[in-house]
Amino acid sequence: MDMDLPIIYLNAVDSTNTYLDGLAKKGYPHGTVVVADTQTAGRGRFGRVWFSPPKRNIYMSILVRPSRGRVDLSDYAILPMLAGIACARAINKALSLKTGESPLRVTLKWPNDILLKEKKLGGILVDSRIENIRSGNTYFIVGIGINVNMTLEEMPEDIKDIATSLYIATGMEFSKNEVIEEILKEFSKIYEEFLNNGKAYIVSEWQSRSSTIGRSVRALLSDGTEIYGKAIAVDENGYLLIAMYDGGIELIKAGDIYHVDSH
Ligand code: BTN
Repeated sequence: MDMDLPIIYLNAVDSTNTYLDGLAKKGYPHGTVVVADTQTAGRGRFGRVWFSPPKRNIYMSILVRPSRGRVDLSDYAILPMLAGIACARAINKALSLKTGESPLRVTLKWPNDILLKEKKLGGILVDSRIENIRSGNTYFIVGIGINVNMTLEEMPEDIKDIATSLYIATGMEFSKNEVIEEILKEFSKIYEEFLNNGKAYIVSEWQSRSSTIGRSVRALLSDGTEIYGKAIAVDENGYLLIAMYDGGIELIKAGDIYHVDSH
């Protein structure tokens, strides 16, 4: 990641992921970053809307162009977890600087939610364009949304019980720019680690920061299937292994996970 690349700041945009995709098509380089103050069509996983009110929160996207020959293209499927780790490291640092020594810690929920006090603080959405790697038309857009200074009153009713912000969790306002800088620093560090050491390291750090492993969970798959069991591990591809109560083991590639125990 070239840290000298300027960050492109926008007031309002439909979605920072969509905007950066346009720049990527024009040939913008690896490491290009777009940050917006608000999004009019912020996107979440499974085509959901990402609530993106002005000023309060972080909406950013990072362009990743795979390095030829260093790791397999298929290994890039680990990018959402890689980005989750970068956010966890960065936000934990901001939290401890601001609140002093405190047990308040960000955790990661499978596949790529960022949690604080068991509530959703942020999420990651990776869009990809995969073509012949030599054509230069293969790239990934890593989208990151973090609720920073949003108040409970500003939050839509339907997410009040499940979402949080740094402000709601601590009663303190945070500098968005400091958190963005720290996320970019950690992202470039862990991305370098990934290129040098492969994805196994990413999976293991993700597991150690995860609040999902060891918990009783309900998995809701996109076809409506529900699976109940205990989340036991994440495999080398980042897929979730659930030990079902009847003794079988299920490998979950995509879906929503609900923690059903109180922890
Ligand atoms: C999720 O948890 O469903 C993922 C949310 C990702 C939101 C971010 S905000 C910046 C970037 N642009 C988007 O349209 N989405 C991502």
